[in-house]
Amino acid sequence: MVRVMLAVAALILAAGLAAAQSNPIAARKALMKANGAQAKIGAAIAKGEAPFDLEKVQTIFATFMEAAEKAPALFPDNSKTGGKTEALPAIWKNKPDFEARLAKFGADAKAAQADIKDLAAFKATWSGFIRNNCTGCHEKYVQKD
Ligand code: HEC
Repeated sequence: MVRVMLAVAALILAAGLAAAQSNPIAARKALMKANGAQAKIGAAIAKGEAPFDLEKVQTIFATFMEAAEKAPALFPDNSKTGGKTEALPAIWKNKPDFEARLAKFGADAKAAQADIKDLAAFKATWSGFIRNNCTGCHEKYVQKD
């Protein structure tokens, strides 16, 4: 647990706490980049390309929880454009829905972190978790490349 917390702390530092105040776009992009890096690790485990490692799995969900907790403050009205943001204006038109999705993302990550102890449970949860949370939000609120 301590090592998970340390790993999370390092990720938060990487995301840049100072940046969160002065540059919410950079801060939210950094949190999302960390989500993306952790999702890659999770996908490899789910596909059997990497061994199941409980500590790594807990770090994945801890990273998601952290992003869900920090993100709501990182979409102020003055951050709709600039900083190469890929956030769509729909976020600010549907703030309650957007924030509810972040809350659900955090709650699902918390539940997964508490419940998942083995590969079978991880596999049973993973793709639905990504589809409902990451993909569900991105389809509505993130520009497609
Ligand atoms: C509630 C909405 C929401 C959820 C849930 C969400 N994202 Fe995002 N994500 C966004 C938004 C909005 C952006 C665009 C941020 C910007 O460019 O300002 C983004 C951007 C990204 C980026 C690009 C970051 C960059 O700029 O380099 C990645 C990668 C990413 N998300 C991965 C994920 C993964 C993986 C998950 C799930 C584990 C996830 N996201 C969950 C809303 C969400």
